[in-house]
Amino acid sequence: MTDAILQIRDASKTFRTGTGSRRRRVAALDDVSLAVGEGEIVALVGESGSGKSTLGRAVVGLERLDSGELLFDGVEYARLRERQLRHLRRNMHLVLQDPYQSLHPGMRVASAVAEPLQIAGTGRASSPRVYEALEEVGLTPASDFLQRYPHQLSGGQRQRVVLARALVGRPRLVVADEPTSMVDATLRGSIVQVIRDLRDRHGIAFLVITHDLDMAGAVGEQVAVMQQGRLVECGRTAEVFQSPSDPYTKMLLHAAAEVGRLETAG
Ligand SMILES: Nc1ncnc2c1ncn2[C@@H]1O[C@H](COP(=O)(O)OP(=O)(O)O)[C@@H](O)[C@H]1O
Ligand SMILES: [Mg+2]
Repeated sequence: MTDAILQIRDASKTFRTGTGSRRRRVAALDDVSLAVGEGEIVALVGESGSGKSTLGRAVVGLERLDSGELLFDGVEYARLRERQLRHLRRNMHLVLQDPYQSLHPGMRVASAVAEPLQIAGTGRASSPRVYEALEEVGLTPASDFLQRYPHQLSGGQRQRVVLARALVGRPRLVVADEPTSMVDATLRGSIVQVIRDLRDRHGIAFLVITHDLDMAGAVGEQVAVMQQGRLVECGRTAEVFQSPSDPYTKMLLHAAAEVGRLETAG
């Protein structure tokens, strides 16, 4: 287990919502343990509300756990203060679901991709790293894209810019929360390919969060299944898909197969 870049141990997080008689508690994370190996792609799958985003946010330090441990390279960081977290943050990057949210409409592609370098004080919009990052996510030639604004890009191109921004600082772990939910099925495949290429070329580990079982099956060698805040199954993708041990995973796979059948029939 020494080569795990990320270890999540017994992570729990409860949210309290509403007031008066409408007060309720939601266990967004209930004792979740999961590891991501160096350069490994783990798909985290589960229906909406199962706690996937909460886990992703906790991993990059945007959400505080009630209890449990987070280790990066074996170093516990769940309880570090903001300032102490800073150097770790450079090694981790969160890619959000909606590229509209993560790209400022008034910022050109070059500046958007350069932002993490600028924050770290290691580069700017004209840096070769920015150009390289765009080429690596398939936006070629990069010179065609540097000066564009987000509205001058297609949905798939925008998601690629967001990935370029994620990798420009050479993080060791990228948490991608629903990276393909805003793009259509054909683009989904190419985003999966970009993620796999980035891992192969740079050894970047990915935690890919998705509600889409096909995406989970295509992208990662490991898959983890969440249901109502609990991790119900985790293992090698091929094994989990072939012989799921948890009833919920079986149900998910069955439902997905059913949709597939209907689509082929229709
Ligand atoms: N900031 C918050 N305040 C209150 N409840 C939250 C908050 N964030 C998430 N939740 C609740 O926690 C549960 C898990 O949410 P989330 O992690 O977003 O799930 P997923 O990403 O799998 O859809 C949901 O019931 C959601 O409503
Ligand atoms: Mg989510």
